[in-house]
Amino acid sequence: MAGTELYGAEERREIQDVLDTGIFFRFNHDAQRQNHWKAKNFENIVKAQTGAAHALAVSNGSAAIMAALAASGIGTGDEVICPPFTYVATIEAILLLGALPVFAEIDETLCLSADGIKAALTPKTKAVCLVHMCGGNAHMDAIMALVQAKGLILVEDAGQAYGAQYKGTAVGLFGRAGAYSFDFFKIATAGEGGVLVTNHAQTYSWADNYCDHGHSHLGTNRGMETHPVIGFNFRISELHAAIGCAQTRRVPEIIKKNRAIKQQLIQLLSAHKLFSFAALGDSEGDSGTFLNLFLPDTETAKVFVDHLNAQGIGGFNYWYTNMYHFINQWDHITHLRTCSKLPIEVLGAPQDYKSLQLPKTQAIIGRLVSFGIRCTWTDAEVHQLAESLLHAANRI
Ligand SMILES: Cc1ncc(COP(=O)(O)O)c(C=O)c1O
Repeated sequence: MAGTELYGAEERREIQDVLDTGIFFRFNHDAQRQNHWKAKNFENIVKAQTGAAHALAVSNGSAAIMAALAASGIGTGDEVICPPFTYVATIEAILLLGALPVFAEIDETLCLSADGIKAALTPKTKAVCLVHMCGGNAHMDAIMALVQAKGLILVEDAGQAYGAQYKGTAVGLFGRAGAYSFDFFKIATAGEGGVLVTNHAQTYSWADNYCDHGHSHLGTNRGMETHPVIGFNFRISELHAAIGCAQTRRVPEIIKKNRAIKQQLIQLLSAHKLFSFAALGDSEGDSGTFLNLFLPDTETAKVFVDHLNAQGIGGFNYWYTNMYHFINQWDHITHLRTCSKLPIEVLGAPQDYKSLQLPKTQAIIGRLVSFGIRCTWTDAEVHQLAESLLHAANRI
């Protein structure tokens, strides 16, 4: 929620520009818009902050990951290795494109591991959809070595990791395309919004077409544009993009604060024998949006969570049982409940999702309790939180 914590005059000024012209559409209307191009500006800010050659602002992060997969050539019947710990949008995007999710094990970074991917490979594997969870980053060196050796397409869902890097490269830029979410709960928000990034010109061009009914965006007469590919409407509005501009400019400052608070919490908690912390592929590149605490095992974590609830402590996620980010809560996916037939129902699922065994992932998520970091926390609030966590742990 960091972005909205700092919501203020900048956001109002950006929105007012759009209200003043009344041009809510991101394309055309050059004369009336008085040089206000909010979606383009939003894309330029993301390009400047990430170093991406191309950025495409779209309606939300789910659209961004779907377009990233589609523009990377992922479609009907393609097996895509993906994690069982992610927001369900990742899996929905794969399924709705007609592709076939193959779930693989994660590691202590909370992301897919190279070993997990290797164990899930089949002759039909076309791609890996890696998700950088909880603001962090995966072990990219090992994953890239595997992906390259096997000739796989890598697409990154960095929906929760805008601002995170691995050895100086923004997450989202390792594969063919990447996706960020700017929904209401992210480090910066557009209200609703997403941005696709890529360093591949053709992938960008297809994504640009795909997210606007196939429009080529060439020339000045929208009605007469050509349509190189079939697409859909995943456009962002100028109002949302305007908020995204103001919010995203704040990200460097937010990351600095998040990281400092996270380090302080780690320092205050690390001496306790029950606590350890999730790993990072590169600790220098953390966006610091979550403190990811490990308890020794699932049973201990459940008792810890009960104590937190009894103490009235909020602001944490116990993904194992409480949140919509883990396969244990995805009955509709594992049972393929659909309102209209999807390709997977015709082609057959590559795994029996109902009886899937992912013991390593189950153990990791069972131990994990994540606290969303607020960049506006005072020193006193940080100490208060640490004391509450220590108190809950001491009762075990
Ligand atoms: C990893 C991940 N991918 C995709 C999304 C979807 O983003 P949006 O809510 O903007 O559609 C989210 C949102 O929580 C997410 O966490």
